[in-house]
Amino acid sequence: MPTPANRRAIIFGNGLDMDLQVLEQEARARIAAAGTLDALEDLRVEFLGKKGSVSALLKTLGAMAAEERKDKAPAIQALRQAVADGVAERKAALEADQLEQRLAAEVLDLSLPVAMAPRGTVHPVSQVMDELAEIFADLGFTVATGPEIEDDWHNFGALNMPASHPARAMHDTFYFPDAAPPREGQDREEPGRMLLRTHTSPVQVRTMLQEGAPLRIIAPGRVYRSDSDATHTPMFHQVEGLVIDRDIHLGHLKWTLETFLKAFFETQDIVLRLRPSYFPFTEPSVEVDVGFALVEGKRVLGGSGDAPGHGWMELLGSGMVNARVIAMSGLDPNEWQGFAFGVGVDRLAMLKYGMDDLRAFFDGDLRWLRHYGFSAFDQPTLSAGVGARNSGGGA
Ligand code: DAH
Repeated sequence: MPTPANRRAIIFGNGLDMDLQVLEQEARARIAAAGTLDALEDLRVEFLGKKGSVSALLKTLGAMAAEERKDKAPAIQALRQAVADGVAERKAALEADQLEQRLAAEVLDLSLPVAMAPRGTVHPVSQVMDELAEIFADLGFTVATGPEIEDDWHNFGALNMPASHPARAMHDTFYFPDAAPPREGQDREEPGRMLLRTHTSPVQVRTMLQEGAPLRIIAPGRVYRSDSDATHTPMFHQVEGLVIDRDIHLGHLKWTLETFLKAFFETQDIVLRLRPSYFPFTEPSVEVDVGFALVEGKRVLGGSGDAPGHGWMELLGSGMVNARVIAMSGLDPNEWQGFAFGVGVDRLAMLKYGMDDLRAFFDGDLRWLRHYGFSAFDQPTLSAGVGARNSGGGA
């Protein structure tokens, strides 16, 4: 590149046009070779900056006589324009390259799994209740609820456990401070002291009173007893089932429980054993056992409990609703009959999802909840299998 000193020589020396051409070619070559935007900017300053070589040529015009200026100005202007165009062109190309490189470097792989934002999990008890609602909905049951703060009559009396009934001993619970002891002859009008309900069975009575018959309901919810060890907590969960119609019998009960348990445990291999039992609110009463195998010290449901290596596990209580309960619930027992059952939700969850200490259910330990909790997006459906696959640290 000529220095400012010899540039004047070029212009005023021999063959101006020729020299400007050389200058332009040289400038274009260097601009085209500029590898970065910074290098290009340096060239721009070198040619077109205040002290740039092309600018210097332009300045020489001022000192020329009018005639000469007229003669030489177009070529110098054209040179300036050519260099400016060259710089702009190269700049566009370099910027395009830079964009290409960025796009290549910052490529987004849309097939990568999304990084999950931390979120809460669905508690196994809620999950199991959803699963129960799904299964029983398919059998035509609706979900009924009742108050956790219950009165003595709904919790005991209407379920055929009058004031002095010995079965009350198994249902010791939490009473309100001003609660008077229960009296014989309490009824719907005089329901007696308030307490925390000891089972979901009072929802049977409430629903029959409110809705009449026929009925098919399940009633999941919290219940309370003053009990506390590895398998008992003062608050736990039950689900009650009730079917009232004109000619319901024990066969319907057995089929319903079998169908429910097969869907819930997602296996056809469920064998039930109905054992005679006693509950004040059912007559006859049966206790339902389910066969299991001992596999590496763990109970796995399936098979007859009488088979070698197997046993029977007590699962739930049930029976035909006692005629007295039907009558106290406002229905004519000569017209209506049905079956009921009650089962521990926590116990179902433990059996299905393999937790062994009930107390951990209610400790609120985040590690436990993350491990055993379910994804909120994993809705149980019968067609897809009610068991949530996305469990266990899914969140
Ligand atoms: N309410 C009973 C309990 O908490 C469970 C139960 C047994 C409920 C038999 C029923 C039933 O509906 O028929 O121990």
